[in-house]
Amino acid sequence: MEIKTLKDVQLDGRRVLVRADFNVPMDNGQITDDTRIRMVLPTISYLIGRGARIILVSHLGRPKGAVKEELRLDPVAQHLSNLLGVEVLKADSAVGSEVAEAVSHLGKGSILMLENIRFYPGEESNDPDFARQLASLADIFVNDAFGTSHRAHASTAGVADYLPTVAGLLMAKEIDMLSRVMEKPARPFVAIIGGAKVSDKIGVIRNLLDKVDSLVIGGGMANTFLAAQGIEMGQSLVEQDKLELARELMKLAEQKDVELLLPVDLVLAEEFSASANSRTVDAGQGVPSGWQALDIGPKSCQLFSKKIADAATVVWNGPMGVFEFDAFAAGTDAVAAALAESESFSLVGGGDSVAALEKLGKTGAVDHISTGGGASLEYLEGKELPGISVLKGEK
Ligand code: 3PG
Repeated sequence: MEIKTLKDVQLDGRRVLVRADFNVPMDNGQITDDTRIRMVLPTISYLIGRGARIILVSHLGRPKGAVKEELRLDPVAQHLSNLLGVEVLKADSAVGSEVAEAVSHLGKGSILMLENIRFYPGEESNDPDFARQLASLADIFVNDAFGTSHRAHASTAGVADYLPTVAGLLMAKEIDMLSRVMEKPARPFVAIIGGAKVSDKIGVIRNLLDKVDSLVIGGGMANTFLAAQGIEMGQSLVEQDKLELARELMKLAEQKDVELLLPVDLVLAEEFSASANSRTVDAGQGVPSGWQALDIGPKSCQLFSKKIADAATVVWNGPMGVFEFDAFAAGTDAVAAALAESESFSLVGGGDSVAALEKLGKTGAVDHISTGGGASLEYLEGKELPGISVLKGEK
């Protein structure tokens, strides 16, 4: 996909509005994971080096159009300043005369961070007047917020109506990696989809069935597929209203000649707790009453790991079990370890899969970790993402 990036435009002395996704996890005013901030550093450094006047805009949390003191962006501005080793000015609003005044004093290469854009109702409603006010601060719009590109908001899409629009370096990298996988994957192409519910991943599964050679399904959602084959699942999480859909998806896989792999064994628990009694059974045996499946078993780990080892492209989204409980983390750990060892081009999206890689200290061993949870999922579903459409001049 051809898109223009900030490298294609004249930046010297220009006022550049950069939409970033600084929606980082916070605990008591402290940033607990700064990955999303660090990932935008190349764009900001590039702009500094080209003498741009940089105006940063982001959301934090979901304040729903009202000021929430705990969601102000001051800690983010401070942290960014520490990482860059340069001053990052912080405004207490995002539009209006005070901000316009602050922008007018910005020197080349200096940075102003606007206040949390979701303090304004016009952001999420993509109000054209609000988008115009925001756009009036700048000469160019750089969208670097891949993580928010599935939202049609004023600062992700609306401003593009009023300003020349290009991608930032992180956005360009995300699009490059995801399109590589979805448009021209090296084969065999294997997707590993996990997580609790089939209902969250229907679109992804359908779209991937047109692309992959093998689809591996694990996690709670595998229960619904097993139940759809008539297997007793005891107290396991099963979406009863999705049994027919699971059967339809299995049939579709067969028609499309896609190998669909489900767990062949399961780790069961007597209750949903970290210290529950556990035992392993073959999936075909079913789950006895009073027990529930919380992880895939060792044979499934082996089977799935072999699939990953033999693949040339792997996409992974969603855990294989309740990995938050150590006793039920082996399946997710096995997938993470196999991915880290494989020579394939590997792409991981979704917070839980990334957390599993982090736990193993293996984040460096995959080719791309997407900064977008919801956004990468919608991309894999084949949906148009508003924040990307504006980069192609489509709206
Ligand atoms: C995310 O964390 O996935 C993005 O920042 C988008 O946030 P949202 O789901 O609140 O729109």
